[in-house]
Amino acid sequence: MCGIIGYIGDKQAQPILLNCLGRLEYRGYDSCGVAVSSSGIEVYKDAVRVGELAKILPQLDGTAGIGHTRWATHGEPSQVNAHPHCDCTGSIAVVHNGIINNFQRLRRQLISEGHNFVSETDTEVIPHLIEKHYDGNLEKAVEAALRKIEGSYAIIVVMAGEPKLVVAKKDSPLIIGIGDRENFVASDVPAILGYTDRVIYLEEGDIGVVTADSIKIRQAGAEGARKEYKISWSVEDAQKGGYEHFMLKEIHEQPKVIRDTLGGYISATEPVDNLAMMTDTSLEGMLILACGTSYHAGLVGKYIVEELVGIPVRAELASEFNYFRQTLAKTGAIAITQSGETADTLKAIKRLKEVGCRVLVITNVMGSTASRIADQTIYIRAGPEISVAATKSFTAQLMALYWLALSYFKVDIKRLDSLIMGLRQLPSKVQQVLDNEDIIVECAKYLSGYKDVFFIGRGINFPVALEGALKLKEISYIHAEGYAAGELKHGPFALLGGDTPVIAIVAQDNTYEVMLTNIREVKTRGSPLIALAEEGDEAIGELADLVITVPRVEAIFSPVVNTVALQLLAYYTAKERGCPIDFPRNLAKSVTVE
Ligand code: F6R
Repeated sequence: MCGIIGYIGDKQAQPILLNCLGRLEYRGYDSCGVAVSSSGIEVYKDAVRVGELAKILPQLDGTAGIGHTRWATHGEPSQVNAHPHCDCTGSIAVVHNGIINNFQRLRRQLISEGHNFVSETDTEVIPHLIEKHYDGNLEKAVEAALRKIEGSYAIIVVMAGEPKLVVAKKDSPLIIGIGDRENFVASDVPAILGYTDRVIYLEEGDIGVVTADSIKIRQAGAEGARKEYKISWSVEDAQKGGYEHFMLKEIHEQPKVIRDTLGGYISATEPVDNLAMMTDTSLEGMLILACGTSYHAGLVGKYIVEELVGIPVRAELASEFNYFRQTLAKTGAIAITQSGETADTLKAIKRLKEVGCRVLVITNVMGSTASRIADQTIYIRAGPEISVAATKSFTAQLMALYWLALSYFKVDIKRLDSLIMGLRQLPSKVQQVLDNEDIIVECAKYLSGYKDVFFIGRGINFPVALEGALKLKEISYIHAEGYAAGELKHGPFALLGGDTPVIAIVAQDNTYEVMLTNIREVKTRGSPLIALAEEGDEAIGELADLVITVPRVEAIFSPVVNTVALQLLAYYTAKERGCPIDFPRNLAKSVTVE
């Protein structure tokens, strides 16, 4: 959700804060602000994007400061609700990511004690509580304030005349970037790329004092050392690299991502030896938990593992799983999360661990909360994903799932060889999809005038239909639904007709014939039909109005090429409609609230 940044060092803080904030916008972008501290504190904020704020800011003098880019929870996006928030004297400023559950009670009490509130936010109680407890020691005042707070927070506090940042974390991510005579605090690694590659991740309950040349972290009164990580992502990874949008760049990175992800798992010379067992082979079932696009990868994972490993797999939404009782005996658990910070997924992991389940996490972010609470972690090596819409992380998650399933694989060596060969061919197959975008652009133009669209698929491509619909709706704002092709006639047929195109994913597997029947049913009801079909499929041309052709791959790999084609379809449809592709309305990249 919100992005927060802090800087203290030997340089002017303002340009650094603005640059880092720009890199954090994918966490929320309805308003933003900065506070720069020297002998006093100057705060500038508004309901604008970071680029706009940079244009209206005067030059602020000071080598310490904080910044925030917001995804509103309490109070509409507006200047007063934007962060940083201050105490009554204006000498303490705070940026916060998280939710203070008991803020209304605290606010009432503080008002009765004479504190003056100006915003509708939960955050504003924090500077006032710090003010109330301040008796010359900022760190102690922050500690005392946090003792009163129930909820989640990652905060950075600055105070006029105090050459330090006080930071604290509970259930929201916070990192410290270690520089040379300067230090950084941020919600996320991409914010500080190019400034430093040395990072520590704060743990639950940590309170820290960061100066230009020191970092002290304490928890429950005791000083603690935190492990330092070296970040392998480069500053170019977090830039658009000549593409119009991050989303397009990230879609085009997928051949490389597949190579990088698999390269880490499968050695070119010894493919079988490198397929190490990940978990206990006596497991009777597997549970996969995730949200959003990662959940769709998990659903594909269900088909992959059931086919290759032969054990039953349940893929569930973490947000639903958390509120129901489950039978967990002899079940292996996998949590999939690109960011490693999704609140619902983290809650599910903790809940599984409480009942004694071992949890394997598939994530993109080294040192993320999910990776630190997991029993085992597989990194997907996709590089930073900046666009709010997940693309390359989905593909890389599938690579991790293929590899995981193959590591269990103890059947016919010929099948294993052909699967590994199929995996190795995927980068060039995906490249073919990317090189063949003219027809996708044509379909996007056609789709862009409609209000409602159905995506249908069967078997392993049913989750691809869900993902195609999610991508289209989130960035083009066209209402889209993913459906199992056989289910349309059980209700949604009532919506079919000339105003409602259907996009059918037609795989060359045991679903092919029945899928053609479903397509005929749709055409009979008058819906325009776009088919996503494999090269060499002669029959489909006679049924569909438009055909996007994808290269032929073994059926188990078809979700990869099909999803890439649907990502492009969503991208070009949104572009045709003039939508803000990388920053869709109301969304944020990392959903750190339930
Ligand atoms: C959609 C999208 C979201 C995320 C979801 C889970 O394009 O990006 O649906 O997939 O919020 O996020 P992670 O994978 O970080 O747990």
